[in-house]
Amino acid sequence: MCGIVGYIGKREAHSILINGLKRLEYRGYDSAGIVTIDTPSNSFTAFKKKGKVADLEKAISGKSSKGKIGIGHTRWATHGEPNDVNAHPHFSPSKKLAMIHNGIIENYSSIKKELISKGHKFDSETDTEVFIHFIEHIQQNNGCTLEEAVRLALTKVVGAYAIVILSKDQPDQLIAARKGSPLVIGIGKNKEEFFIASDATPIIEYTREVVYLNDEEIAVLRGNDIQIKSIKDIELTPYIQSLDIELEAIEKGGYDHYMLKEIFEQPRSIKDCMRGRVRLKEKKIVLGGIQKNIDNLINAKRIILIACGTSWHSGLVAEYIFEEFARIPVEVEYASEFRYRNPIINKGDIVIAISQSGETADTLAAMELAKRKGAINLGICNVVGSSIARLSDEGVYTHAGPEIGVASTKAFTAQLIVLTMMALKVARYKKTITEGHFEELLKELTLIPEKVRKVLELSTAIQKIAEIYKDATNFLYLGRGYNFPVALEGALKLKEISYIHAEGYPAAEMKHGPIALIDEEMPVVFIATRDSSYDKIVSNIQEVKARKGKVIAIVTEGDALLPKMVDYVIEVPNTSDALMPMVSVIPLQLLSYHIALMRGCNVDQPRNLAKSVTVE
Ligand code: G6P
Repeated sequence: MCGIVGYIGKREAHSILINGLKRLEYRGYDSAGIVTIDTPSNSFTAFKKKGKVADLEKAISGKSSKGKIGIGHTRWATHGEPNDVNAHPHFSPSKKLAMIHNGIIENYSSIKKELISKGHKFDSETDTEVFIHFIEHIQQNNGCTLEEAVRLALTKVVGAYAIVILSKDQPDQLIAARKGSPLVIGIGKNKEEFFIASDATPIIEYTREVVYLNDEEIAVLRGNDIQIKSIKDIELTPYIQSLDIELEAIEKGGYDHYMLKEIFEQPRSIKDCMRGRVRLKEKKIVLGGIQKNIDNLINAKRIILIACGTSWHSGLVAEYIFEEFARIPVEVEYASEFRYRNPIINKGDIVIAISQSGETADTLAAMELAKRKGAINLGICNVVGSSIARLSDEGVYTHAGPEIGVASTKAFTAQLIVLTMMALKVARYKKTITEGHFEELLKELTLIPEKVRKVLELSTAIQKIAEIYKDATNFLYLGRGYNFPVALEGALKLKEISYIHAEGYPAAEMKHGPIALIDEEMPVVFIATRDSSYDKIVSNIQEVKARKGKVIAIVTEGDALLPKMVDYVIEVPNTSDALMPMVSVIPLQLLSYHIALMRGCNVDQPRNLAKSVTVE
């Protein structure tokens, strides 16, 4: 949450910062701001504005500075409502220091109290303003350098941060630090310029050489020098990596929205995820990323899957897959609950963290807890080099490509692929699956991209259904077995981007509550493909129809029964029960997209949400 950018070099910083903020806007869009240092006056030029980066850009129009160093921020509000004053950057009392911050300082109120008792006055309600006041206070009291003051302040603050600080007195220097919130430094040619950002997307059009800052590290960027120290004042050697992302991957490529592009990318992203891993000819699955722990997985007494949001739903599907094929008990945990309830971790337990961004604060903290308790941590992440990926003992990248739409789509299907590959690989080693069944599932996996492509062709038909139900105030999504988590995911997608209240439920549980909601106005989406619970779900559909509910059913191609019973059907190609979620979720993604669009919602940046939730 919150996106931060910084630049120091020979170019004008202004447009680099604004373009960078646009790329990071998925991280928060409550307000935006930038500050640059103008030479030769060494004065700050700052602009802050409530709303999106485009609002900031409009406010700046014609007034931009020519400074070659600056920082920028796009905010997802934590402390203080979204307005111009609470927007970052924030300034120290002398107005000589400016700071941007992603994260939360938990002990800010005690620091603030102390500073107020010493005469400090604050313009905003933010923890960030307290932070930068605190740094200047330390600098003045100790008569030390800014770098040292930052280091000392960091030893005192509790919480999460990625910060960048600009000083009028040192107009050729940027100081950055992180703990718990991500920060990447881009190294320009001959180290003549440096870029800083919350992720690599604002950087890759300038350079592929990057350094990921680790927790409790401080970077000082000056002229053509990058210096990294630990918070304990130990000098470290920057580890420069080369990134492998193409610019097109982070642009809309002709689609109206990132979400639509990402939905339509799924045949390719699923293929990319399996590439080199699902080897049909050799009849095997290769997952180099977890090779060292394969014996631990095979012998695991229990697997604990931890995740949040959509990633948690992919964990629920995986629970069914691991238990059915690998016969290992699985628990699926909300990371935010797991970390605060003293969970029992036994020797031989494997924890798998699932996260698109690899930065979700709760998932990260849950992993740290599991690690402390002796678990082996495996990670399934989409973002290469992300914090969760780096904290994992081993892991598998989903390779879905950058996902920018706030509502997760292609990351979900790629996570399902990875989890299925893992479960099948383990099942085969354990011999809990027959060779014949293994090969059959392997073959089916390779057919998924084409089946997904066929479902995407239904977009216009789904649009027509969306037109009919776009004004509904409630939706119910019901599924059984492998399609139960899909019902949860369908409801979440609709809520997230169209703001229609939607609930996902196991279809049989409907009788224990949600059935009371059903009337002639209530659309009920059944995911009723032809699997082992088909007959049961047909009965559940009858129960809804008997109460005059409106039923939209996702059915298997060729189903002769359900089209006669329900109001609208969406036919999807058949596949194995365990793989069906990758196919049956697609119409639900499209339905949410079309409904949200018709309701005039911003599908890529839904209100109050952010893509990368780096606060707990
Ligand atoms: C946010 C996003 C969701 C995502 C969830 C978990 O809520 O809006 O789309 O599923 O975080 O994120 P992660 O990056 O850990 O998968």
